Amino acid sequence: MSRENNINYLVVALPSGKLFKPSIQLFEGIGVNLKGGKEISRKLAFFDQEEEVKFVITRPKDNSTYVECGVVDIGIVGEDVLLEEKKDVYKLLDLKFGKCKVVVAVPKEKKREEYYKNNGHRLKVATKYPCIAGNYFRKKGVYVELIKLYGSVELAPQVGLADMIVDIVSTGRTLEENKLEIIDEIIPLSAQLIVNRISYKTKHKRITRLLQDIKKFISLESDKIAKW
Ligand code: PRP
Repeated sequence: MSRENNINYLVVALPSGKLFKPSIQLFEGIGVNLKGGKEISRKLAFFDQEEEVKFVITRPKDNSTYVECGVVDIGIVGEDVLLEEKKDVYKLLDLKFGKCKVVVAVPKEKKREEYYKNNGHRLKVATKYPCIAGNYFRKKGVYVELIKLYGSVELAPQVGLADMIVDIVSTGRTLEENKLEIIDEIIPLSAQLIVNRISYKTKHKRITRLLQDIKKFISLESDKIAKW
């Protein structure tokens, strides 16, 4: 990277993981030349062909942190991260891909009615999303113990760490393979385009142009994008 500051170009943070490929497809779709973006997942920063946009690749949960503090102008982030982390960023657009939902799931062999009947026993809920889960159970008036995990949440009920889980479901395969079933859906999610509040003012023209291009692409290719 030869440039020392970020004034002359837009800095865009792409999340690694499941949203990486569709994010690359989105920018290629609006005509940004990513210099073979699909092969660059180990290189964490690169420019587009015209050097107008600098892309950085972040861990999905870190993406909004980079945007919030302004070293990155724009980011693509899962809505789960926005709901859980509550960063001070401006949500620009629902990108309509990466669709999934946050659900409450329990072991299949147990009867549905057993849940939410506390019977003096405080339910243990394993989750990567204590904030989303906490709000949900508070509104429901159910007193639970939240157990924060960083991944593979589906394991928790199998080994007796928790009675149920609150987690993301996309294809439903992980739940199925771990003999869990959904008993409640908390919220549907999709990938979101976010922007730093100051960048939105200082780079307004460029960001608006990019936003228009993305909106146009999404409306023309909605069927294709829904499958990403
Ligand atoms: C997410 C989520 C589920 C799984 C759901 O985990 O927490 O475990 O994907 O996807 P599915 O419905 O298509 O099976 P992720 O792959 O991000 O890994 P992690 O459990 O290590 O966080």
